[in-house]
Amino acid sequence: MSVHKEAKRITTHILQSMKDNGEKIAMLTAYDYSMARILDEAGIDILLVGDSASNVMAGHETTLPITLDQMIYHASSVVRGIKRCFVVVDLPFGYYQGDSKLALKSAIRIMKESGAHGVKLEGGAEVIDSVKRILTAGIPVMGHLGLTPQSIYKFGTYTVRAKENEEAKRLLSDAVLLEKSGCFGIVLEKIPAKLTTKVAKKVKIPIIGIGGGGGADGQVLVTHDMVGITKDFKPRFLRRYADLFNVMKESTESYIKDVRSGDFPNDKEQY
Ligand code: KIV
Repeated sequence: MSVHKEAKRITTHILQSMKDNGEKIAMLTAYDYSMARILDEAGIDILLVGDSASNVMAGHETTLPITLDQMIYHASSVVRGIKRCFVVVDLPFGYYQGDSKLALKSAIRIMKESGAHGVKLEGGAEVIDSVKRILTAGIPVMGHLGLTPQSIYKFGTYTVRAKENEEAKRLLSDAVLLEKSGCFGIVLEKIPAKLTTKVAKKVKIPIIGIGGGGGADGQVLVTHDMVGITKDFKPRFLRRYADLFNVMKESTESYIKDVRSGDFPNDKEQY
């Protein structure tokens, strides 16, 4: 019997049962109502209101500028568009690091004001106090290890992380720490496939990969990359399922042509 096919609503318990049952978890990003409706109707398990909204929606170079208010605006729009999937929201940069009380306050605002189902934050041992304090309020927490874009100025580049033994060992121990602290899942971004497999075997909670190979318990992509809206972003790990940039560009060109020629609106398209 398939756990996710039976489930009317996806919860952290369903996600855990999916891992236990060997069923892969499908996760995508969403930042608005219309996109959330489409992805939820398609049967997605988790929607991530990612701080990648800073890049994708606002055109910033990094995820650092997005604010908590902006994340709440995106998250509440997504929540209004879904019926079934689990919605997890990124805690933005500057609202949880080094201050677990601030982290709890930020997480509570997200849950109260957006109606989302959980939060995600980046880092391991260095943010564990924040993780633990948020969990005391009964808020599900997802970890994020490997390439953590909020630390881009520390890394210097967006290249593959944890290729060296020492960083790989630290990542594994951070994953165990996040699990022990009570996280319901962990995103592993852009790390060697072998390391993803090792972590997914070592910890019992679901591991969701992006650029981490097929050994994870599920996969996440930025939806705008997956459907080809962000046409210039072409990392090796990305599979494009559509070319919406060109579909929308060509539709717009046709619309402009029809308006200019007077073909639109025709007799049937007016009152
Ligand atoms: O913000 C985001 O979209 C993310 C994914 C890349 C996992 O954190």
